[in-house]
This record gives sequence, C-alpha cells and structure tokens, in this order.
Amino acid sequence: MKNQAINNTTEINYDAVNGQFGQYGGMFVPPVLEGKLLNLYEVFEKNRNDSSFQEEFAYYLKHFVGRPSPLYYAHRLSKHIGSKIYLKREDLNHTGSHKINNTIGQILLAKRMGATEIVAETGAGQHGVATATAAALFGMKCKVFMGAEDVERQKMNVSRIKLLGAELVVTHAGRGTLKDAVDAALGYYIEHPDVYYLLGSQVGPHPYPTMVGYFQSIIGKEAKKQFIEREGRLPDNLLACIGGGSNAIGLFDNFLKDHEVAIHAAEGGGLGPILGETAATLNLGKPGVFQGTNSYALTDDEGNVYPTRSIAAGLDYPGVSPQHALLKDTKRAEYHLITDDEAIEGFKLLSHLEGIIPAIESSHAIALAMKILKNKPEQISIINLSGRGDKDVERDLM
Ligand SMILES: Cc1ncc(COP(=O)(O)O)c(C=O)c1O
Repeated sequence: MKNQAINNTTEINYDAVNGQFGQYGGMFVPPVLEGKLLNLYEVFEKNRNDSSFQEEFAYYLKHFVGRPSPLYYAHRLSKHIGSKIYLKREDLNHTGSHKINNTIGQILLAKRMGATEIVAETGAGQHGVATATAAALFGMKCKVFMGAEDVERQKMNVSRIKLLGAELVVTHAGRGTLKDAVDAALGYYIEHPDVYYLLGSQVGPHPYPTMVGYFQSIIGKEAKKQFIEREGRLPDNLLACIGGGSNAIGLFDNFLKDHEVAIHAAEGGGLGPILGETAATLNLGKPGVFQGTNSYALTDDEGNVYPTRSIAAGLDYPGVSPQHALLKDTKRAEYHLITDDEAIEGFKLLSHLEGIIPAIESSHAIALAMKILKNKPEQISIINLSGRGDKDVERDLM
C-alpha cells in the first residue's frame, strides 16, 4: 500500500483506497472493533451508492440543517485586507457549525444499522450538540464524552447538550481536552461494541476519515457551484481552520484536482511553535499511529503524546486527519501555525467589520487571511467559516 497515492507523478490520488491515503490512514484497533468497523465501511459504501439514502440525506440537509449555506461576499473584510474574500457560511447551519453535516450522514447510517444508542466525543461542544440534536431527531439514546477543561470553557454547549436530552460524561484525564474525550469514547466503544460511535472529525480508524470527509464534502460542492455562478471562474485560494480536519477537507475536497486553486489551513498554534504549548500537529508533529490511525501526531521519540494548548477547544488536539497528512507531504495544501493572539485578532476583526461573530476555531482562518492575503487585490478567495461564536462570547476574548 505504501506510496500507492504517489505512483503517478501527473495525477496524485488524494482519495482513500480502502482506508489508506497514501501511506497514511488504516485501522489500528483492538480485534473486538475490527469486524464492527469493517461492517460499518460496507454499510457506508452500500448507502453512498444508494439513491434512497442520498435522497434522505439531501432531505435533512435542506429542510433540517438549512443547506445550501450562503457564500457571502465579505466586502468590508475584503477592503480591510486588500483582497476579495467570500465566506462559506457554515456558521448559519442549524446548531451553528459544519459538524451537523457529518452527524446527519452518520445517524442515517446508524438508523439503517438498527442502532439504538449513539456515543460521541466533543471538544468545542459543537459536535456534541450536533450529535445530541441528531439523536433527538430520530429518538435515539445519546452519550457525549467531554474533557473537564472543555466543559469549563464551552459552558453554553454543555447546557445545550443536556437540554437536547443527551447524557454528558465528563473526563478528568490528561488536560481534559479533545484527546481525552476521544480516549474515553473509544474506551466506551471497546467495552460496548454494539453502540454506534459517531466520530466528529476526520480522524480515528478507518472508515471514519473516509466517511467524515465524504459527508462534509457537501461544503465544497456547494461552494464551487456558488463561486462559479458569482465570479465565472475558480477561486485563487481556499482557507479553513484545521483541528482534526473535517471542515477543511469539506471545503477542499472538490477542488483538490484544480491545481490553480491554492489551499491553506490554519492550525491551532497556541502560544507558538513550542512543543507542549501548541496544537499545530502538521507543523510540529511527526508521522505515527495515534488513536487508531496512522497520520501526523504531536509525539516525542518514544511515541509519548505531548500535551497540547490552543485557545480553541476544537483545535486543541495532538492528532490530525490522514488525508491532510498526505496533502501536506505532497504539498497540495499548506498548513500554517496561527497563535491564540492572532486568532483573537481575527475574532474581533470579523465581528467589527462584518457583523458576524465567528467561532474561535474559525477565527484562526480569518487570522490566516490577514497574514497571507494582504494587499492582493487581484486574488479572490473563499474562507470556510466553520462555526458561529456564540459559544465563545462569554469567554471575554476581547
Ligand atoms: C466551529 C468549529 N470549527 C472547527 C472545528 C475543528 O474541527 P475540524 O478540524 O474537524 O473541522 C471545530 C471542532 O469542534 C468547531 O467546533
């Protein structure tokens, strides 16, 4: 399998082949989960080619989530930066972020598999809210694992998860962030393999990176059509923030073969390029197996995971998607470190200039635009606004 993606210098295959993205990806799990996950992959493949599944998915995206999300020309931000910028408004989706796209897709699979209990991890709380929402929609029992630090910094989403009828399980392990929530959810899944584990980012063992990437790719499909209608050509740049990688791949996927489109992602840089004080996995990590998949991770030479730090709970994670690992190695996408302070600048700037309060995660992409698009009036770009900032308002980031 090694390097199968790079066997043709003219066109690299960025898609998964049986869960492998080049040398990355795969399924590194205890035997009790292997059969479950292979079955899940079979069900996913069958349904992605099934017109009744596609109709049901499209129905809920349109009538429940509110898709298509607008592609908004941010005229005052554009003027300020000196370059033409559109925002893909995933913040306007029901529940307030892109997470609901994947959640609806997976819950429809879970329903077809006869699952009655849904389990999920959450960092910023957006995936927890989206999963609790989807479970309520279909009358399923739901358990959401969340780290103690994230419970503290994303209080509004904690209340929403409970109000939606889900059980919140708080983990006090580690720094109490997303990695610890994934560990706790995976641990529960290993002990209760009959539940449906609804993973929220493009991480974890096969088939999650393939499935999550597919369900989020609606973002880029819409954006491409909307952009061509407005501008009559392709964008020069795509920008997104990246934690595990799902909103970024959602926008990028449909443009990967359009080599004239440059692709940029903003990692949660925390205090800067200092191991233990950052979550910039693709900038400072190295390849290795972590939480069920082979990708980049913030680990030392013995494979011990460094603690991470990011002001954005949704980016505060030492792993990353295996597909983004491939996009980095093949230089198809560029990954930038955005510090907490830079993200706060982005948070304030978009709020003041456009009347749109972004999630602190998405603010990293705004900060990246401030850095790399400055005074480029001939260029037109799309920033994926992955979520709204209601959850961050009470944190006093001003
Ligand atoms: C609004 C928002 N954006 C981005 C992310 C990062 O996740 P991903 O990289 O999977 O898009 C999160 C995660 O919680 C989020 O809530």
